Amino acid sequence: MFVPKLDNRSDLESSRNSGLWQCSICAHGNDERHISCELCGVLRDLSLYFNNALEVEDRAKRRNKHYSVSVLARSLFSPSSTMSKDVIFSDGFKASRNATGNTHATLDVLHKTYMACKGRRINIVPFKFDTPSPDDMVTTGLKSSRNFRNDVCIAGKKAVDSDNCVIEKGTTTDPSSLVKLDEIGEGSSSSSFVVDCHNETLVLDHELQHLSLERKPKKSKAKIQKPVSFSLYKPESWMLQHEDEDTPRQLNLAIVGHVDSGKSTLCGRLLHALGRISKKQMHKYDKEAKEKGKGSFAYAWAMDESADERERGITMTVGVAYFNTKNYHVVLLDSPGHKDFVPNMISGTTQSDAAVLVIDASIGSFEAGMGVNGIGQTKEHSQLIRSFGVDNLIVAVNKMDLVEYSKERFNFIKSQLGIFLRSCGYKESAITWVPLSAMANENLMTAASDTRLSSWYDGNCLLKAIDTLPPPHCDVLKPLRLPICDVFSSQMLGQVAICGKVETGAIRSGSKVLIMPSGELATVKIIERDSSRCKLARAGDNIAIGLQGIDPSHVMSGGVVCHPDYPVPVASSLELKILVLDITVPILVGLQVSNQKRAHG
Ligand code: GTP
Ligand code: MG
Repeated sequence: MFVPKLDNRSDLESSRNSGLWQCSICAHGNDERHISCELCGVLRDLSLYFNNALEVEDRAKRRNKHYSVSVLARSLFSPSSTMSKDVIFSDGFKASRNATGNTHATLDVLHKTYMACKGRRINIVPFKFDTPSPDDMVTTGLKSSRNFRNDVCIAGKKAVDSDNCVIEKGTTTDPSSLVKLDEIGEGSSSSSFVVDCHNETLVLDHELQHLSLERKPKKSKAKIQKPVSFSLYKPESWMLQHEDEDTPRQLNLAIVGHVDSGKSTLCGRLLHALGRISKKQMHKYDKEAKEKGKGSFAYAWAMDESADERERGITMTVGVAYFNTKNYHVVLLDSPGHKDFVPNMISGTTQSDAAVLVIDASIGSFEAGMGVNGIGQTKEHSQLIRSFGVDNLIVAVNKMDLVEYSKERFNFIKSQLGIFLRSCGYKESAITWVPLSAMANENLMTAASDTRLSSWYDGNCLLKAIDTLPPPHCDVLKPLRLPICDVFSSQMLGQVAICGKVETGAIRSGSKVLIMPSGELATVKIIERDSSRCKLARAGDNIAIGLQGIDPSHVMSGGVVCHPDYPVPVASSLELKILVLDITVPILVGLQVSNQKRAHG
């Protein structure tokens, strides 16, 4: 969204006299009746909004019935608007360093306006993670198959799908990009972007008011039946989880944290201790790592499979591995901690149900993660994970061996980080703090044996903490919703295969499904979970399915596989809620920004 700079008002006045007004951004001559630029969408005169937002809004409405300023845009300038509660302002919203004088002027006015609103006790409240939005109800649907890896790191083999096609780990080149587009929820026309800005690169949707999803003309022969009321939906018996089924529930567990905090080592240790990595394989990792002079990374190599990752000693893409606990089939998502790979961390963990935030307890390292010398990924990752809807967090305070298992250090970290996590919206009761050492295998699988730790800590070990996480909300009682992450073809799954996470309902082979927004019907031929065939999948499961009876051109990532009688509604417009995570340059009205798509490459 752009608005004109205030010091361009004389130009605006002069062009107004000629019946046209000139856009301050693109210089396009606009009809007097338009309040925003036809070409670029810039609002005609910001100051009017400050003077009397509602009056202007009414006047504009009367002048032009095709009044195109979005509700969100209006909410920014209309304190009494119903949307104003979503507007993020903070006291730190002061000009500090800006490129141009204009920017300063605009910022100044904005700040004054904000302060004035505050003075008048107008209800502008900061964004809250807990503020429910319709799209919060449905988690992400856009995820590249490169990050959805059907592979198991059991033997540390390179990821290979069942057709022996190598699935490469995803790499995203632009470190500054971060876009989460929640798919369109039931009965909702809104969606949300999460914007992450760092290294002075601002990534922001610049065309809020132009964003829309256009309904494609349906050439489909298969006519979509009139949607049946949701209240009439009754799941069939096979869709429900029965008591006698001994399939453990799936738990997508993101492992996040600052670079080098020991995430991959922790995962490798767990997998090894649980027998998911054979002794022989572990011996091989150990030998090879030592040969390369990276002996301490032996366990991390179970997750860091590429030569590049091993060479550099850092994780670059999200590694996936599986193990079972008493209650869960855990899908481990080992994220990269380096700030350059935040986009990869995001694309790999948007579908997580819970997270383990790994902290390096050693002196200086915890502080680095908290951003003492810049932006720390401890903070960034916890904010991101929270914005994906993760409520339950295990904080694994790792490398306790390096601080002599000091209770004081643990408590210091707990108090400092605790304040921050609560400010992100995590509930105290939803955070489990576990001191451990991945390297020394202390407090991972069983209670600590080192007396320096066991003398003051008697809580759960990591594995127990994972096993006692609350079960993820899996709604099998609702009609099928499977947002499509990727469309591909493979020998096993056929010409048209898709992957994604079943958000609601259930699916089984032989089912007829409706692919939205194309409105085409298809038949489920094969379902694969964890690279093995299965007959059915339920809400919460990550799967790949082979479809039959549909042209590939009618299936696209971002689409949704639905129950034929209960198609997901197609939105005609989007209202975005943007969450700014961290920036070094304030986002100003009139600032040039770009809308960056998630990289799939
Ligand atoms: P990125 O994925 O690149 O962010 O790193 P990471 O968090 O996965 O860290 P990684 O597992 O690669 O470990 C980094 C270094 O920390 C390695 O040298 C590990 O040996 C070391 N390390 C991990 N856990 C421990 C621990 O508990 N104690 C000690 N002393 N070192 C550890
Ligand atoms: Mg790692």
